[in-house]
Amino acid sequence: MSELVSLTRDGEVGIITVNNPPVNALSPGVPEGIASAIETIQKDDQLKAGILIGGGRTFIAGADIREFGKMTSGLRRGGSLLPFLLTIEDSTKPMIAAIHGTAFGGGLEFAMAFHYRVASPSAQVGQPEVKLGIIPGAAGTQRLPRLGGVAKAVEMCAIGDPISASEALKHGIVDRIIEGDLLSGAVAFAREVLASGAQPPKSRERDEKLAGDHSASFAAAREQAQKRMRGQSAPRAAIDAVEAATTMSFEDGCKKEAELFQQCLFDNQSKALIHVFFGEREVGKIPGIGKDTATIEIRKAAVIGAGTMGGGIAMNYANAGIPVIIREVSQEALDRGVATIAKNYANSVKKGRFSQEVMDRRMALITPQTTYQGFEDADIVVEAVFEGMDLKKQVFGELDKICKPGAVMASNTSTLNIDEIASATSRPQMVIGHHFFSPANVMRLLEIVRGKATSNEVIATSMALAKRLKKVGVLVGNCRGFVGNRMFHQYMREAQYLVEEGAGIPNVDAALYEFGMAMGPLATGDLAGLDVGWRIRKEYKDDQNETRGLKVADRLCESGRYGQKTGAGYYRYDENRRAIPDPDVEKLAEQVAVENGISRRTIGPDEIVERTIYALINEGAKILEEGFALRAVDIDIIYINGYGFPAWRGGPMWYGDTVGLKKVYDRVCEFHEQMGELWTPAPLLKQLAEHEKTFADFDKEKRAAAAG
Ligand code: 3HC
Ligand code: NAI
Repeated sequence: MSELVSLTRDGEVGIITVNNPPVNALSPGVPEGIASAIETIQKDDQLKAGILIGGGRTFIAGADIREFGKMTSGLRRGGSLLPFLLTIEDSTKPMIAAIHGTAFGGGLEFAMAFHYRVASPSAQVGQPEVKLGIIPGAAGTQRLPRLGGVAKAVEMCAIGDPISASEALKHGIVDRIIEGDLLSGAVAFAREVLASGAQPPKSRERDEKLAGDHSASFAAAREQAQKRMRGQSAPRAAIDAVEAATTMSFEDGCKKEAELFQQCLFDNQSKALIHVFFGEREVGKIPGIGKDTATIEIRKAAVIGAGTMGGGIAMNYANAGIPVIIREVSQEALDRGVATIAKNYANSVKKGRFSQEVMDRRMALITPQTTYQGFEDADIVVEAVFEGMDLKKQVFGELDKICKPGAVMASNTSTLNIDEIASATSRPQMVIGHHFFSPANVMRLLEIVRGKATSNEVIATSMALAKRLKKVGVLVGNCRGFVGNRMFHQYMREAQYLVEEGAGIPNVDAALYEFGMAMGPLATGDLAGLDVGWRIRKEYKDDQNETRGLKVADRLCESGRYGQKTGAGYYRYDENRRAIPDPDVEKLAEQVAVENGISRRTIGPDEIVERTIYALINEGAKILEEGFALRAVDIDIIYINGYGFPAWRGGPMWYGDTVGLKKVYDRVCEFHEQMGELWTPAPLLKQLAEHEKTFADFDKEKRAAAAG
């Protein structure tokens, strides 16, 4: 065989093993190797059956995603996997796929061409292609409904979430769960099949689950896809392909699937989502901090402050099975914080996300108290008290006296200087920012803020911890607002200026919602609380470089309209927290415009998007050249996981590349001319635009430089 695929024997059973670490992707050579092993088994009189198994930690986790980029850029011709699958299925000797780890995408498609599937109890199967902006391309949309039924297949192909081995068994996607050693169980299964003398069943010929009217399943899938994957075209294509299985022959259904697959593959959405897939893994790679960097073992944590953030942060630790102390100043605040945690967990139990027993176990891991007792053996302390430098320094000074020497000291500050906070301790190398996003138990982003003295060990520990807490950790530098909020500030400012200039509050939000943002910026402001920014503006009023200020927001706050929490902000809110446009706020915007000599006009959605999103891109470019973000892709991952930026647009920097940086730069220059210094083009943007380059090129050059 080849190095990628080997064939061994156990008596009359041939065992085909894929050895393509880390995830046994179907890289060139793997499908060929499997088909050739099947042919060998077929020809060998000594062999009566075959088993396919993955070497290492998993079965086949899918097609090799790196190959898609080569295909769309013309570097490689995409050959169909279907002929290999027919070779397997047409074998006259029974063929069994033995699944552990993940049989995803092409992996499940291969498994479904085998006559039988057995799986370890912990295995998962799925067609996650839509998460990459494509659809199954090797008959997955045609075989899965035949094996698992139309309703399950359409859900799996359209939404992309995996299912467990036991669920797969229930739906007929796998035939048996093997407890204990998978390979010996699979060999025993093969011998049972041989003894039965059964004809190897072919999934492509099984039509019984296709019969009947499935229109309700397709309608439900379309509705769910629209809700959960708004703006994305792959889920719709996946549903159309599964629907084809119910109206066409297997062969014609495969043709339809191939057509839709190609359309999706060459679409910008799949390029963006593949960029995000690799980006989420790349952010974990930090130049100068290799895999060999020592990390601190985190066995016990402590959180200070049980407010909005502290409670959510403590939940993250408990969810990961790490015991956590949570300290408050008063019993009252502590009780309130703990009650919120309990309410959040109880909601999850009510929604069936986990059992009461899991909730009880998690609650038992949280120790609420008003003292520093037990802090001396915490491996990490996360501070989440009110935002104020004096208070933060006081708390870190206290911690310095109590915490053990090797403890990580993290602050959840969203705006304050980590170095100044660290200066209150005798060990600034142990201090780092852990900037969680609200609600901290839900949002995936963790901005990890490196101070000038933070040690590599503390950074590596934080990155590993982020994974353990099921967050995407992104390392950023210590500038005002760090990366996410520094950019968001520009975006929100433009949204508010647009309101003053006559764009209309619902129109601004609608344009960005249509663009794909999870929420419009003004509704976001109302949700987060307009008073937060108002207080910061008052605190920093002497060093504001914004001549125009945020007058509408200030006036709203002065009149007590802080957003949802006071029942009114940019919008009014009914008892169900539904936003109702408020003509009074439009009048206020008109008045502000008159008072400040701002001329009002009709502004369309394209300009709304350009003003807000290009503001993000321009600031992102400044951050990149100042070195506060390691790569453009890091910014993209921050925006997708922390700010509701649509993943299918790849993040703001990737989006800039798809628009064309020359076009973005020219528009930024126009805004600069019209509106002055706030729109000063980032030199990096100018440079890339003039050289017809992209942020992706910038990243590529940085990677090459880091690799030496
Ligand atoms: N192709 C190429 N590389 C892949 C890959 C794939 N399908 N899946 C994972 N990798 C790489 C990752 O980039 C990473 O590389 P790195 O170490 O250089 O950063 C490495 O394998 C390990 O991956 P993870 O860090 O994600 O490892 P985990 O153990 O956390 O997760 C996994 C494993 C669940 C398999 C996860 O990697 C995953 O979900 N992979 C993608 C699966 C997928 O989408 N499959 C469908 C592909 S499309 C397809 O099959 C089309 C078909 O219909 C024709
Ligand atoms: P909050 O006001 O909800 O909670 C702060 C809590 O800290 C209060 O319960 C208070 O009693 C407690 N506290 C004050 N001093 C204390 C002390 N010495 N010891 C123990 N507890 C003390 O504030 P929130 O929103 O949770 O913010 C906390 C930190 O998180 C701030 O630095 C903020 O900037 C940051 N942050 C807030 C986000 C948000 O959306 N609310 C998002 C990201 C970061």
